[in-house]
Amino acid sequence: MSELTLPYDIEKIRADFPVLHENHHDDVPLVYLDNAASSQKPISVIEGLNTYYREYNANVHRGIHKLSEAATEEYEGARKKVRKFINAKSRREIIFTRGTTESINLVAQTWGRANLGAGDVVLSTVMEHHSNIVPWQMLSMEKGFTVKYIPMLEDGTLDMEAYKSLLTENNVKLVVVVHSSNVLGTVNPIAEIATLAHEHGALILVDGAQSVPHMPVDVQALDADFFVFSGHKMVGPTGIGVLYGKRNLLNAMPPWMGGGDMISKVTLDGSTWNDLPYKFEAGTPSIAEAIGLGFAVDYLSGIGMEKIHQHEQIMTEYALERLEEVPDITVYGPSADKKGAVAAFTVEGIHAHDVAQLLDNHGVAVRAGHHCTMPLHDDVLQVPATSRASFYLYNTPQEIDTFIDALYQVKKTFSI
Ligand code: ALA
Repeated sequence: MSELTLPYDIEKIRADFPVLHENHHDDVPLVYLDNAASSQKPISVIEGLNTYYREYNANVHRGIHKLSEAATEEYEGARKKVRKFINAKSRREIIFTRGTTESINLVAQTWGRANLGAGDVVLSTVMEHHSNIVPWQMLSMEKGFTVKYIPMLEDGTLDMEAYKSLLTENNVKLVVVVHSSNVLGTVNPIAEIATLAHEHGALILVDGAQSVPHMPVDVQALDADFFVFSGHKMVGPTGIGVLYGKRNLLNAMPPWMGGGDMISKVTLDGSTWNDLPYKFEAGTPSIAEAIGLGFAVDYLSGIGMEKIHQHEQIMTEYALERLEEVPDITVYGPSADKKGAVAAFTVEGIHAHDVAQLLDNHGVAVRAGHHCTMPLHDDVLQVPATSRASFYLYNTPQEIDTFIDALYQVKKTFSI
């Protein structure tokens, strides 16, 4: 292994994550390289959840009692932390949802339902996760608009010339695009995509599920109209996600789910809606999970997103370099400098699921399959499945070495 200089004391970071010290299959150390699917949690997040349930578990916004006030303060405190983390203008622009998928469906079912119709186009991309394709396809069947897709270039980046033509030739109302691909790692030029969309009178929704955990994100600098992400990929709990939307857009949108907390007044003849963000948070929200997300934001901010990004770039570069040494491997996506912390690959002659299964026997956890990007696999990569190693702030160069050694063992098992 080459001597890599890392931007922080990696052992100190690893000490914060209990699961990283568990053995896998009882006898081999765990090498967790499935971070794009879900990240591990530091003790501060785990303890934060524990403390909520042990010490101030109560509903929010409702009770005139100490526990409810404490829960409300932490829940709303988490919203403020998220606002700062992505540099939204106001905490009212931060809507808590269950995750990225729910955030996108919320926009489809409120803004989309109110604003899209026959003759309109929603422009997505061929590298999109199903969660940024299917909700638009479902709504298009009902409302009669068309979903079109920005193609890609050979190097794994979006075809920006084709994007400009699609904008010029169609009545595009909304561009929906992933910030960082969960398979290729491609980091898309969101600010440029947003400027072009706005010049053509379209709005932009950005799927930040794979970017917010890994790099500094400033929604104002990107000029995103909607920006969505999940807690569980950024060292936070499952069941919590965020929809950021510009305040004027959110104000103009009808609510999605009806129920408690989202109303201002209810009579037997009709109801009026609460202010932002509560208009979109019907029912008892994911209180513990939102508080946990607040602790996750504290944790990541404490290290610094610049440093985390730097660490991951070093890891990705090293992983790609080492993967290149292994014969019969194809790695998908752009070069390390244009890429998030993801390496999707195939091994000639071995199915991606077998690769993942055998790597697991060596303690190395990766994901295999189409990674919820069937169009990308079928139409662009033209393989049914890939294996994917994805890295995070706690991974080490030694773990990459273990992964590569295990890959050689997998090939040996198949006599390749
Ligand atoms: N979207 C997650 C992944 O890429 C689940 O694995």
